[in-house]
Amino acid sequence: HGYFTYDPGFMATASCQSEITYIDGDKGILLHRGYPIDQLAQNANYLEVCYLLLYGDAPTAKQFDQFQRTIMRHTMVHEQLSSFFKGYRRDAHPMAIVCGVIAGLSAFYHDPMDINNQEHREIAAYRLIAKMPTISAMAYKYSIGQPFVYPRNDLSYAANFLQMMFAVPCEDYKVNPIVERAMDRIFTLHADHEQNASTSTVRLSGSSGANPFACIAAGIASLWGPAHGGANEACLMMLEEIGSVDRIPEFVARAKDKDDPFRLMGFGHRVYKNFDPRATVMRETCHEVLDDLKIEDPLLDVAMELERIALSDPYFVERKLYPNVDFYSGIILKAIGIPTSMFTVIFALSRTVGWMSHWNEMMSDPKQKIGRPRQLYTGAPEREFKTQVEK
Ligand code: CMC
Repeated sequence: HGYFTYDPGFMATASCQSEITYIDGDKGILLHRGYPIDQLAQNANYLEVCYLLLYGDAPTAKQFDQFQRTIMRHTMVHEQLSSFFKGYRRDAHPMAIVCGVIAGLSAFYHDPMDINNQEHREIAAYRLIAKMPTISAMAYKYSIGQPFVYPRNDLSYAANFLQMMFAVPCEDYKVNPIVERAMDRIFTLHADHEQNASTSTVRLSGSSGANPFACIAAGIASLWGPAHGGANEACLMMLEEIGSVDRIPEFVARAKDKDDPFRLMGFGHRVYKNFDPRATVMRETCHEVLDDLKIEDPLLDVAMELERIALSDPYFVERKLYPNVDFYSGIILKAIGIPTSMFTVIFALSRTVGWMSHWNEMMSDPKQKIGRPRQLYTGAPEREFKTQVEK
């Protein structure tokens, strides 16, 4: 055609300009607002990173205190929202529930919401960041038939999520600080990753001027797939299916077989052709948690052996298929008692700040346009229509 660049998978298309996150996939570098991810994971907590992503700079102590209070004040959901959950079957996948309930928030907060007003956009971001843990934990409690646990605003963001997941009425629930730190780190390491499929989905949906809660629901839908956020769940299911170290060669052979669609879940990345810097930190945390909780998990032996193979087998080395962040996060989440079906929900919860930062960046751009890719048409040429249905 000559008019359009044909770029399936957007391998060579920059869809926007952005100041939020920088990735150099060849060198394995990830920076948020200029700060390396490993420094943020070691020295900042998740809400500090949220502030950084949303506002462009790390918060001062005073700014952080105020931000934390604001977020924690928004953690409750309207009581009427609990009836949304009852419409789902008990065994519904929590991603389906969270996607639906978050889209439902657009009915609660559609006015006087002015998406062209920076303050209104900020409030939408606070609400989403604050309510995602509440709604996610509610989806889990609903699936196991336990009563919903209300948020506790005196706890940290991570500890509050853990208590909403695991506390039961009339029993004392104390959050283990190592588990709290691991949870916070999982949130931090998933907070943003520039123009991945779900973030691009949020931008594209938002580019038409749609309600931000509905745009985040679109992002959640896109994240769900096993090639994206669904990989952490798929990875754990794969480790369980492999079951023991002696069965690994069979699965590795399948992964290399071009006639077999099987892939090693948790390996490879579109952008990183080097070790994913998030995976490095996640790997450390994974060992910390397993040591502290004294968990002997045979799946970890399978995981470590797979990791060894991927780093030495020519098939994986030549294709630069390193273990990615979700390879390790799944093992940590399992160790701290999070059911597999909640893994992708936790990814969505963590990524909400990234989605909202990108949406806000796009909406603040005076040159913002509706996203509208073109195509190369390969269908039938023009032809005359003659009905074949008797009238
Ligand atoms: N196992 C076996 N072979 C693989 C794998 C894998 N996990 N990933 C890629 N390959 C092979 C693929 O068959 C191809 O080989 P060849 O060149 O001989 O045809 C080559 O490596 C390049 O793969 P690709 O599919 O062209 O690469 P992509 O950039 O389109 O896909 C990916 C990236 C992440 C979708 C893919 O690596 C994959 O499916 N990985 C498993 C799922 C996964 O872990 N996803 C999570 C990504 S990290 C979390 C997130 O940010 O969402």
